[in-house]
Amino acid sequence: MAGNTFGTLFRITTWGESHGPGVGVVIDGCPAGIALDETDIQKELNRRRPGQSDITTPRKEEDKAEILSGVFSGKTTGAPISIMVKNLDVDSSKYEELKNTPRPGHADLTYELKYGLRDWRGGGRSSARETIGRVAGGAVAKKLLLLQGIEVLGHVVELGGIRAKPVSIEDIRENTEKNPVRCADMEAAVEMQAMIHAVRSEGDSVGGIVEIIGTGVPAGVGEPVFDKLSAELARGLMSIGAVKGVEFGAGFKCAQMKGSQMNDPIALRDDKIRALSNNAGGMLGGISNGEPIICRIAVKPTPSISKEQRTVDMSNMKDTRIKITGRHDPSIPPRIVPVAEAMVALVLVDQMMRGGFINPVIGEK
Ligand SMILES: Cc1cc2nc3c(=O)[nH]c(=O)nc-3n(C[C@H](O)[C@H](O)[C@H](O)COP(=O)(O)O)c2cc1C
Repeated sequence: MAGNTFGTLFRITTWGESHGPGVGVVIDGCPAGIALDETDIQKELNRRRPGQSDITTPRKEEDKAEILSGVFSGKTTGAPISIMVKNLDVDSSKYEELKNTPRPGHADLTYELKYGLRDWRGGGRSSARETIGRVAGGAVAKKLLLLQGIEVLGHVVELGGIRAKPVSIEDIRENTEKNPVRCADMEAAVEMQAMIHAVRSEGDSVGGIVEIIGTGVPAGVGEPVFDKLSAELARGLMSIGAVKGVEFGAGFKCAQMKGSQMNDPIALRDDKIRALSNNAGGMLGGISNGEPIICRIAVKPTPSISKEQRTVDMSNMKDTRIKITGRHDPSIPPRIVPVAEAMVALVLVDQMMRGGFINPVIGEK
C-alpha cells in the first residue's frame, strides 16, 4: 500500500491500524535543536482523542504519546522522530458482523475491491485513528511555526445546517476550546450540541464546515506552478477522511461575484503594501500575500450510523440490510478541527522550508 507519506522536505509517514497494537508517525526532515517533549505532542492529541465529551465516540483511549527517536536532552537531533500511541480500548466484536457486509459511505468496499482483503477491525487503515500520526506530526510543525510567529487555528463554522455568526481571530482563540463542538460562536455551539444529540437519538449523523486560519504567514510562501500553496493545502486537507470539499477565502461564492467584488484592493498601510479585503484567502498565484490564510473544508456526516441501510453480503452475494452498532462519532467536524490544523501546519512548514523561510538543518540554537 503506497501513499502513506506526506511532504517534501518536512515529511510524515503515518502507520498503524485502528485495532492493531498501536498507531504512529515517523517525521523526517525536522531541523535539529528544537525543544520538544511528549507534552508538546500530548496537548494536540488530547484535542483529537475519542471519548473527550458526550458528542464523540465513547471509545476510551488515553492516546498517550511516546517519542521513540530523534530527541536527545529535550531537543530534536535532526534524526527521524518516531512517535507511537498504543491502542488500549480495542473491541472488534461489533465489526465481526461487518466482515462481509461493507458499510455504505465507508472505505470497506473499496479496500476490499482493491486489495482482495482488508483489516475489517475498526476500519483498519481507513479508520480515523490514522489521524493520530498526522496530529502528532502537526504538533511538531506547529512548534516550528510558532518560532516564526505563525499560528494555525481551526473552528467549526457550520454543523447540521446551523451556521455560526462571523467571529474575530480573538473569539476563535478564546472560545473554540470552551465547548465540545469547537464553535467560536458560543450561542451557535449550544444549538449544534443539541442537534448532535437529536440526530444521534435517531440513529443518524450530521456533517458541517470547518474553517482553518493561518496567521502571521509572510508573503512569498508557495512554490508555483504545480506546488502552489493553495494546491498543497487542498491536497493535505482532502487527504483527511470524510473531507469532501475545500475552499479558500471567498471560496465557491466567487462564481457568483463580479471582478470588482472579488478583487481585494491593494493599498499602502503603514508603508506596507496590503490587501484591503481577503477574498483571496491570503494566496494569489499559489503564493501567500501576507494576509491570513483562510481555508474551509466540507465534512460529510459520519458514515457508520445505526439506521438501517442497504448493502451486499459478500459471503453469499445477496442483497441485505445492516444497522451499525459499534462506537462512532455522531458528527465529525468537532473532532476534525485538530486534524485539519495539523495538515495546514505540515503544509506551511514544508513550503516554508522549500522557500528558505525555515532552515531545514538547524532550528533554534
Ligand atoms: C476525526 C475523524 C473521526 C471520524 N470518525 C468516524 C466514525 O466514528 N465512524 C465512521 O464511520 N467514520 C468516521 N470518520 C470518517 C471515516 O474515516 C471516513 O468516512 C472513511 O475513511 C471513508 O473515507 P471518505 O469519507 O473520505 O470517503 C472519521 C473521520 C475523521 C477524520
